[in-house]
Amino acid sequence: MKDERYLVFALGKGRLADKTIELMEKIGITCEEIKDKNTRKLIFVNEELKLKFFLAKGPDVPTYVEYGAADIGVVGKDTILEEQRRAYEVLDLGFGKCRMCVCGPESAQELLKHHEMIRVATKYPVIAKDYFYNVKHQTVDIIKLNGSVELGPIVGLSDVIVDIVETGSTLKENGLKVLEEICPLSARMIVNQVSMQMESERINDLITRLKEVLDK
Ligand code: PRP
Repeated sequence: MKDERYLVFALGKGRLADKTIELMEKIGITCEEIKDKNTRKLIFVNEELKLKFFLAKGPDVPTYVEYGAADIGVVGKDTILEEQRRAYEVLDLGFGKCRMCVCGPESAQELLKHHEMIRVATKYPVIAKDYFYNVKHQTVDIIKLNGSVELGPIVGLSDVIVDIVETGSTLKENGLKVLEEICPLSARMIVNQVSMQMESERINDLITRLKEVLDK
């Protein structure tokens, strides 16, 4: 094999990483070590293919890619929109499908119609701000939360929430519903802008092979 440098992948920890590993295996890229759930290791190497993989918190993946610490990242579209990092988004991986929505109790539907000042709780302040200010032209008070955002309207912190809806069961079990849809989401592959030039052959080959299995 010619003297290649390692291509480095940053994968968002959890289900997205598991799905990414499954997908990579379909194109012959394997990394057994990374599948060991008991390991505390953070970085995994496939010496033969000159690849390295590391697992990071989802919101940090675009940061590693922008700075070139990873050539390639796999992360949700929600994180890409929220983090606003410089990177090329090259592929929709088709898994992790869900929607970014404005949700709340039925009674809050009316509040979204008249440009009223309302409170919006969310883990995604950038996305929420963009939607309310630039799409709806509604002035809102955005309250950043770090999880269990559905609590917002239930405990009286906010009128509505902006959050991810996958099956809708969290909303249903808490007496809330989707009031407006902001955008569809899924896992995406992102690439560092310099790597895309310097390693274009290997990265384009990877994208082509992934597209082939995704199209099947
Ligand atoms: C996400 C999201 C919703 C839930 C949606 O939360 O924030 O709460 O999943 O899924 P569903 O429509 O299938 O019920 P996550 O489990 O990531 O935890 P979090 O509340 O701590 O963000």
